[in-house]
Amino acid sequence: MKAYPSIEDLRERARRRVPKMFFDYAEAGSYNQETLRANRADFEKIKLRQRVLMNVDKRDTATTILGEKAALPLALAPIGLGGMMHGDGEIAACRAAQAAGIPYTLSTMSICSIEDVAGAVDKPFWFQLYVMRDRGFIRELIQRAAAAKCSALMLTVDLQVLGQRHCDVRNGLTVPPEIKLRNVIDIATKPGWALSILKGKRKTFGNLAGHVKDMTNINSLAAWTANQFDPTLSWKDVEWVKSLWPGKLILKGILDADDAKIAVTAGADAISVSNHGGRQLDGAPSAIAALPRIVDAVGAEIEVMFDSGIRTGADIVRALALGARSCIVGRSYIYGLGAGGQAGVARAIEILGKELDVTMALCGVNSLAEIDRDVIADSPMDTQRRPQ
Ligand SMILES: Cc1cc2nc3c(=O)[nH]c(=O)nc-3n(C[C@H](O)[C@H](O)[C@H](O)COP(=O)(O)O)c2cc1C
Repeated sequence: MKAYPSIEDLRERARRRVPKMFFDYAEAGSYNQETLRANRADFEKIKLRQRVLMNVDKRDTATTILGEKAALPLALAPIGLGGMMHGDGEIAACRAAQAAGIPYTLSTMSICSIEDVAGAVDKPFWFQLYVMRDRGFIRELIQRAAAAKCSALMLTVDLQVLGQRHCDVRNGLTVPPEIKLRNVIDIATKPGWALSILKGKRKTFGNLAGHVKDMTNINSLAAWTANQFDPTLSWKDVEWVKSLWPGKLILKGILDADDAKIAVTAGADAISVSNHGGRQLDGAPSAIAALPRIVDAVGAEIEVMFDSGIRTGADIVRALALGARSCIVGRSYIYGLGAGGQAGVARAIEILGKELDVTMALCGVNSLAEIDRDVIADSPMDTQRRPQ
């Protein structure tokens, strides 16, 4: 995968290899995609301070995330339908993450099941939970994650109601794809993808099949989600989930300082400041714009992670500079997955790690601990910089 020097190159290769229905699903934001665009635009507005002659020979990108050692301040995000970007995609991504020394998060809506992934890797991974109406099933799912020795539970709190992605409606997204002429033609032109999916263990949602009714084929993902996901979810349920889960608990999808404060009181071990990659509330601020206020409110009390919009190592520096302890990437690695399976994900992580390292060097820092708001040059985001 050396011929692909950037995440954008991996994206372009994935676009050519993956059927349109699944590539569009991965790319899209909700509704008018304003928040999706803001996630990128606001990152690009943050300028970094170029520092010189600082002796940056001893750079180190290692850290701890939730007490676990990590080679980079980075984890792979939970991605529903990951196994539709490449056959056994979740196993491929988990293996690549573990080889690179960073955490991997398996989605509730994955194609490979918790047990499939646990049986294929030798280190613990994280499990992401969506709470559905059938609480008996959710209790079971939490028990299955504990039995598989998952080392953290990531409860996603920003998707009780699904933000619509127009392309999924236009493309008639189903899992597995329906046998329609336009799908058959599309798949016929993506033989590498088709072969990997044929060889893969599963063609539908592995965590749900056999546990939830009507799971052999989801004719409309959006309609199914609307029926199953529980809009009554509240902070009381966070308590309930916490009482069932013996390990670390991350709340993913916090975008407001008041919610972050409640998360601290609720006893979460970490939060991820996130707008679900611009896939939920369209019109919400970019996650990077929301980060400083949340860090100011709770950064001293809880581990603050960050996701939504990261495409480069420089973005990781920007998020750390604004107070995140670590970052989570979604599309950046699924482009790699679509581009080349495990090797593609490994390449995506390598690209982000190398860019992070070079950015640190050119900003004049040797360790992650030195990355603070001082690394940011004057910009509209830079309200709190100390005077020189
Ligand atoms: C294709 C796709 C599927 C996703 N599926 C899930 C999911 O199942 N559970 C979840 O908590 N978040 C899910 N997310 C959100 C990601 O975990 C993460 O918050 C987001 O991708 C971060 O933004 P980025 O893609 O710009 O890095 C998904 C995102 C994408 C792009």
